[in-house]
Amino acid sequence: SQKSESDLRSPICCILGHVDTGKTKLLDCIRGTNVQEGEAGGITQQIGATYFPMENIRERTKQLKADAKLKVPGLLVIDTPGHESFTNLRSRGSGLCDIAILVVDIMHGLEPQTKESINLLKSRNTEFIVALNKVDRLYGWKTCPNAPILTAMKEQSKDVQNEFKMRVSKIITEFMEQGLNTELYYKNKEMGETSSIVPTSAISGEGIPDLLLLLVQWAQRTMVEKLTFHKELQCTVLEVKVIEGLGTTIDVVLVNGVLHEGDQIVVCGMQGSYQHHKELKAAQGIKITAQGLEQAVAGTALYVVGPDDDVEDVKETAMQD
Ligand code: GTP
Ligand code: MG
Ligand code: NA
Repeated sequence: SQKSESDLRSPICCILGHVDTGKTKLLDCIRGTNVQEGEAGGITQQIGATYFPMENIRERTKQLKADAKLKVPGLLVIDTPGHESFTNLRSRGSGLCDIAILVVDIMHGLEPQTKESINLLKSRNTEFIVALNKVDRLYGWKTCPNAPILTAMKEQSKDVQNEFKMRVSKIITEFMEQGLNTELYYKNKEMGETSSIVPTSAISGEGIPDLLLLLVQWAQRTMVEKLTFHKELQCTVLEVKVIEGLGTTIDVVLVNGVLHEGDQIVVCGMQGSYQHHKELKAAQGIKITAQGLEQAVAGTALYVVGPDDDVEDVKETAMQD
């Protein structure tokens, strides 16, 4: 059966890994932003969602001449902190995702929160792609901005290529010690059994086209059922935070369904109305401001009061979350 863009929702991808492996920087590189440098101590302390529309992904991957039709409307990526004290946020982020990127620093290999992340992914049976980041730190690396990784690799000296091979094979062994088969994505003949590794640099952008294309292709090839769009709203509170000038706000992830302007929404017994966009289609990250949000709890569901629903019933359901 052929599914078109209108039938599929965007996959949700969570980005996990040890502190300072470059998770936020990778997203900065894809977005063309500089969020990481604005973070206190360069440490991510919350989870946040970024939506990449398919036009952007097509643009970033065009050098790879992907002939396959990319049918998903985009990709929603959830950034998580790698610092050891934020296990709960990693767990919340990974609980929402369809697919994950596990970021490993090529100079460091597997670290404690890499292993914690692996266990989270295993426990939820979530497929993941390894971004083997910071390849530009290999001694003598010749920068090839935003190039596909094999194009960049051809430009490197024999010494760089040898150091790369040596580090990759060491890291594959470390994954094996965690009970996981991994392989460089362009050598991986059995995706699914073996997780793919994409070498990247979040500073100069090598491997970013490969990472994006692999994510989207992999998601739509293996998850058509899961990604089938349905009208029933599925929406989860990601974070509750106080923002100066706005008061208490909630960041929610619209996993499936559509949120319309004027929809009566309920979170944890609190009632309000959704304003801002005419219509938002899953998957999306949304910030909502309203009175009484102080009581909202991260991880709980957001409900919309339907035409035949009794508001009090919906409030009661929401309180049970
Ligand atoms: P937490 O969210 O705090 O766990 O860290 P993170 O994984 O988001 O890493 P972050 O993006 O904060 O990057 C950590 C440091 O590594 C920063 O100084 C980045 O500039 C640097 N960095 C990230 N990616 C790369 C890369 O590909 N190459 C090089 N050379 N440096 C990188
Ligand atoms: Mg970060
Ligand atoms: Na950091």
